[in-house]
Amino acid sequence: MTPHHSSSLLRLLSLLPLLTVPLTSTVTATPVTLTAHLRQSNLTELESTFWAIADPKSSLYLKHLSLPELAELIGASYEDIDAAAAFFKKAGGYDITVSNLRDTVTASFDSKPDVRLTSRGLPHESTHPDAVEFLVRQDVLPPSTPPLIPSAPPRTSAGSDSSPSYTISNIKDAYGIPTDYQASHPDTTQMVWGPGTFGYSKAKLEAHKIAEAPLINMDKIEFWTENHGTPGGDNFGEGQLDVDMISSFGLNVTTLVANTNTSASTEETTGFGAALLNFLTDLSSREEVPHVLSMSLGSLSSASCNLLCSEAAKTGIALTDCQAYISEQRQVCMYLSDDQTARINTALQVLGARGVTVMGSSGDGGSHFSFGPFQGSGDDAAIADALNEVSCKFQMPVFPTASPYVLSIGGEMWEVNSKHPVTWAGYGGGSGAGFSIQFEAPPHQQSSTTVSDYLQKPGMPPASSFNAKNRAYPDMSAVGVMGTSQSCPISAGIWSLITDIRLNKGLPPLGFVAPRLWQVAEEYPGEAFEDIIGGDSNTSCSNGFPATDGWDANTGFGRPIWDGFVKHFADDDVHA
Ligand SMILES: *[C@@H]1O[C@H](CO)[C@@H](O)[C@H](O)[C@H]1NC(C)=O
Ligand SMILES: *[C@@H]1O[C@H](CO)[C@@H](O)[C@H](O)[C@H]1NC(C)=O
Ligand SMILES: *[C@@H]1O[C@H](CO)[C@@H](O)[C@H](O)[C@H]1NC(C)=O
Ligand SMILES: *[C@@H]1O[C@H](CO)[C@@H](O)[C@H](O)[C@H]1NC(C)=O
Repeated sequence: MTPHHSSSLLRLLSLLPLLTVPLTSTVTATPVTLTAHLRQSNLTELESTFWAIADPKSSLYLKHLSLPELAELIGASYEDIDAAAAFFKKAGGYDITVSNLRDTVTASFDSKPDVRLTSRGLPHESTHPDAVEFLVRQDVLPPSTPPLIPSAPPRTSAGSDSSPSYTISNIKDAYGIPTDYQASHPDTTQMVWGPGTFGYSKAKLEAHKIAEAPLINMDKIEFWTENHGTPGGDNFGEGQLDVDMISSFGLNVTTLVANTNTSASTEETTGFGAALLNFLTDLSSREEVPHVLSMSLGSLSSASCNLLCSEAAKTGIALTDCQAYISEQRQVCMYLSDDQTARINTALQVLGARGVTVMGSSGDGGSHFSFGPFQGSGDDAAIADALNEVSCKFQMPVFPTASPYVLSIGGEMWEVNSKHPVTWAGYGGGSGAGFSIQFEAPPHQQSSTTVSDYLQKPGMPPASSFNAKNRAYPDMSAVGVMGTSQSCPISAGIWSLITDIRLNKGLPPLGFVAPRLWQVAEEYPGEAFEDIIGGDSNTSCSNGFPATDGWDANTGFGRPIWDGFVKHFADDDVHA
C-alpha cells in the first residue's frame, strides 16, 4: 500500500467525482456489464482441499486441481445458472456468458438494466434471484478521470551519505541475490493488479531500468487488460511502483499488468471491494493463470470497520454518522460486508488450489490504521477523535493481507546500512501487523507454538486489543521504504525466480506457499529468512506489536536469504 495523507481536503476530493459527475449521466450512453456471483457448492471441501494441496506433509501436496475439477466442485447448480441468465435476459441483457468455474454469469446492457436500480446503478436486491449473492457492475472508465489526490510520495532511492541507499542492486545484495540473476523458463508469469487509475508508463519503467535495473526485459511486460489506467491518477503511481519492483526482482519473467474494467469509484469506498471480488473471481476462472500474483492495495477489513463504528457509537457518536464518515475516507473501509470478504476468500482458495502464489502488502498503518489517523473538522472532528481512540484501543487488521489464504508481506528498512534491518516506519505509518478479527489461525499457525511463544515476550499490546487465536500476519518482509506497496512486488519477483527454477526442473509451481514457508522457517531458523529485530507497529498509538527475535506480528519471519530460498523452496527433495 502506498501511504496517503488523509485530511479533510482528501475527503472533499474523494467526494468530488460523485458531486460533479452523477453516476447516471455518465452511464446512460455507455454499455454496462453486470456480473452475477452465484451461490457456490462444496465450500467446506474446497477449503480442506486447498490446505491439503498447500501442506508439504499431505499426500495431496502440490497436486493442483484443474479448472474442470474445480468447476465440478464449486460450480453453481444448473438451475441457479438458468435463473440468473433468465433474469439478465428479461432486464435487457445480451452476450450472456457463464464462467469456466460456473460460479458467475455475465451480461452486457446497452445503457442500464431494465429493472429497479439502486442509487449505485445495480439491480435492486428484490429484483434478482436468490442464487445471486453479489452483482458487480463494470463500466468503462470515463476518458479522463481527474487525479483524485497527488500521487504517492516522491521516490527517493538515492541515499545521502548518512542514509542507506535503497537501490535495486543494494536490496539484492542485502538478500544475496546476484544482481544479474534472471529467469529463463518461457512460461514463468507474474501479475500485479489494481482497479481505477492503476497502470504504468513504459517511459517511466524505461527510466527506472536505465537508472537501476538495466536487465529488465521490456518485451516481457504487458497489459493483461485493455484498461491501462490513467496517468496522474493515484493508483497509477501504485501501478508504476508495482511494475518497477516486480520486474526488477523477477528479471525476465513475463509480467502482466491487470486493471480490471470497473467504474471510477473503485479507488475508494466499497467499489474497491467489488472490484477485488470481481477480479479474483474472474482470474480464478480463467484458463491461464499467472504463477505469482502481487496485490499492493487494500484497506481495513470489514470487521475492523464494523468494530470502529460500533465502538464509536458507545461514546455517543451516531452510528449512521460514523458509517457515512468512514465510507468517505479514501482507502480506509473499502469492503461491503463479511459475506463479500468470504467470497473473495473463496476465489483466493481456488487460485491456491490451481497453483498460484498470491501475496498482499501488510498495510502501511502499523496495526492501528489503514494509513494514518483519522482527521476532520467541524462535525467530523468529534467523529475522527472518537475513531482514533477506538483505533488505538484495538489492533485493526487490514484485508486482503489478513486473509489466511494470502501470503502477507511486511516492510523493513535499514538502520545505518543494509546489514541492520528494522521494521519499516514512515509517512506517519509503518509496516502493517497483527491478528485478523474474522479468520481463525490457519493450520500451520495452530500446529506450532511460534505465535504463542511470541506473545509471551515483553512489549505486547493489551490482550483485549486483538484476538490471539486468529490468523497472525505478516508472514515475511522486504524493503518497504515506499510503503508495503514496495515490499510486496519485491517479494513477488523473488518468488517468481524460485518458481522459474522449479519449472526448469519440471517441478510444479509452489501455489499457496505459507504452510511450507512456516515449516521451513521453524525447522531451519536463519537459513531462508533473516530475522528483523527492532521497531513496532505502534504508529501514532502507545501500543502495538514489536519486531522481536524469531517470528513476530510486525515483520513475520524476516527478509529473504536467497541461498536459503533456493535450497528450501526451489527443490522438493529436502521436504518430501
Ligand atoms: C458437491 O455438491 C453437490 C451438490 O451441490 C453434490 O452433489 C456433490 O456430491 C458435492 N461434491 C463433493 C465432492 O462434495
Ligand atoms: C529470458 O527468458 C527466455 C525464455 O522466455 C530465455 O530464452 C532467455 O534465455 C532468458 N534470458 C536470459 C538472459 O536468461
Ligand atoms: C475492457 O473494456 C473494453 C471496452 O469496453 C473491452 O473491449 C475489453 O474487452 C474489456 N477488457 C476486459 C478484460 O474486460
Ligand atoms: C509500543 O507499544 C508497546 C506496548 O504494546 C510499549 O511497550 C512500547 O513502549 C511502545 N513503544 C513506543 C515507541 O511507544
